[in-house]
Amino acid sequence: MLLGSAELGGSVSGRWSYIHGLLSAALIAGASLILGLGSMAGDAQASSASMASHNIHVGVASCAGSTCHGRSEPTGKVVRQDELLRWQDPSSPTGAHSRAFAVLGSARGQAIAAKLGIGSATDAPMCLGCHSDPAYAGKGPQFHTSDGVGCEACHGGAGEWLSSHYAVGGTHEANVARGMYPLDRPRARAEKCLDCHFGSDRPGQFVSHRIMAAGHPRVSFELDLFSALQQHHLEDSDYIQRKGRTNNVKMWAVGQAVAVNRAVTLYANAKLGTEGVFPEIYFFDCQTCHRQIVDGPKGKANWTANPGRPIPSGMPAFNDENMIMLSAAAKVAAPGLAAKFDADSRAFHAALAKDRASAVSAGLKLGGTANQLADAFAGSTMGRNEIFSIVDNISSNATSPRFTDYEGSVQAVMAVDTLLNALVHGGYVTEARAAGIRGSIDRAYKAVNDPNNYRAADFKVALSQATASIRSLR
Ligand code: HEC
Ligand code: HEC
Ligand code: HEC
Ligand code: HEC
Repeated sequence: MLLGSAELGGSVSGRWSYIHGLLSAALIAGASLILGLGSMAGDAQASSASMASHNIHVGVASCAGSTCHGRSEPTGKVVRQDELLRWQDPSSPTGAHSRAFAVLGSARGQAIAAKLGIGSATDAPMCLGCHSDPAYAGKGPQFHTSDGVGCEACHGGAGEWLSSHYAVGGTHEANVARGMYPLDRPRARAEKCLDCHFGSDRPGQFVSHRIMAAGHPRVSFELDLFSALQQHHLEDSDYIQRKGRTNNVKMWAVGQAVAVNRAVTLYANAKLGTEGVFPEIYFFDCQTCHRQIVDGPKGKANWTANPGRPIPSGMPAFNDENMIMLSAAAKVAAPGLAAKFDADSRAFHAALAKDRASAVSAGLKLGGTANQLADAFAGSTMGRNEIFSIVDNISSNATSPRFTDYEGSVQAVMAVDTLLNALVHGGYVTEARAAGIRGSIDRAYKAVNDPNNYRAADFKVALSQATASIRSLR
């Protein structure tokens, strides 16, 4: 009999309410702290700026000068300059990346490593690709693995741009040309975050089901929501002038497309996509295996048919959380591709019931369509009407029967949370009006609190109440 462990359920159940509470707080703090215009002083210290090798990771200490990103107050003229403090904040998710290495040494991290028999987690390549900056291109003298997921893990190795990126008259494009990673572009950001928040084919960046079974928490991600949770910059007028205004719906939708592409591409990779005689289980929807056995004469099976996944009973389902959301977004923002995407995703599930070769080729086709959607979203308008239409689609009669399992349902709750925040951030709904209905979003989070006590029917009620309350803001 397969059962999820209590540990797994426990860690997830605390998290959603935690994530949700902190997100609202982060948005409010962001709104009340607008910095002035101006250009950054050219007097910043550059510690190891002479390092000139392309993309070398020079280490957090190189960013931490008190006239650089190490201020104790957000008094910088262009950027806050207290980014280091926020990255280190022990009391909030903005500090999660600075703790990423330390958790490997914690009792939980070491217990996972002991079960896997890989020695100390703090030295294990299997863990360090995500729990520190893997710095594949090389490390400078001030680089320390123990800094965890440092600035350059996201912003790119600074070897070639450290000394030029604060020069007067410098531009973002010039920095990017020197190797700064363009996190302001939704697709680029999605690829970067998903390397660790889903997995990649680079060394040490894959959490297999073996790692999960050793006690690793389930990895769940939504680009826009998680970006807000770790945010250490202000989107003030000069940010908008330099990089443009962030469109949160686009960020969300592109995040879904890139996640679908990533999952099927990694699954197609024979090294990552198989484990012994089995497919790599990490790609499958956890609860489609981790259910109780119901085989008595009066038992009512836990399994429910799902129109999005045409597979026979008794088969685990590929995790389709991002496919469901992408379908809802495509119908609104890229209607010409929506039917193709739905057909490709059904064909992929069906192929999984045949053989690996068919599944790989159907998966790559699906991934290609997801890529086209990411491109189409980039050129689409996603404003007020689109947000409301996507909210409608998420709880529509077409989508609702696809919420048979936990993973897709969690992703849907994160989506309605993000879409409500996008209405506020886009200026379409006031924060006061949004606050009036946040209780319904909280109730939807509660319905996905515990994967081991998930009930699709209860979830659907909570989701449709949440979407109805958003609709009331129209
Ligand atoms: C593909 C990237 C990846 C790999 C590889 C990986 N992790 Fe993680 N780990 C994560 C992410 C992302 C989280 C946060 C999950 C969340 O909360 O969404 C996490 C969370 C954790 C946590 C819980 C942290 C906390 O704050 O409670 C521990 C412990 C942990 N990982 C240990 C390990 C160990 C030990 C290994 C190696 C065997 C490992 N991880 C490999 C990405 C990874
Ligand atoms: C988990 C990924 C991640 C890490 C780690 C990270 N950042 Fe960021 N940072 C971002 C994202 C995403 C943005 C917003 C997009 C953008 O404008 O680049 C951002 C924005 C910024 C900005 C504002 C840029 C602007 O144009 O206004 C600064 C400055 C910054 N980060 C500095 C740092 C420093 C210093 C560190 C290390 C102490 C760090 N970041 C660590 C992801 C990260
Ligand atoms: C090099 C790997 C890596 C990259 C790149 C990365 N993360 Fe993470 N992130 C982690 C790990 C590992 C954790 C878990 C740390 C812990 O729990 O202590 C984490 C935790 C988080 C958390 C806190 C989650 C929680 O459950 O509290 C947020 C939010 C987050 N990341 C957002 C992002 C975003 C947004 C990006 C892209 C801009 C990003 N991360 C890029 C490795 C990474
Ligand atoms: C294809 C079926 C299948 C899927 C899908 C699946 N698992 Fe498992 N899981 C197993 C099997 C088999 C075991 C080993 C059970 C045993 O040894 O008793 C296991 C064990 C575990 C364990 C250890 C539990 C224990 O009681 O020892 C955890 C934790 C776990 N899985 C988490 C997950 C997560 C998280 C996911 C989704 C990412 C997932 N599983 C998806 C089949 C599956």
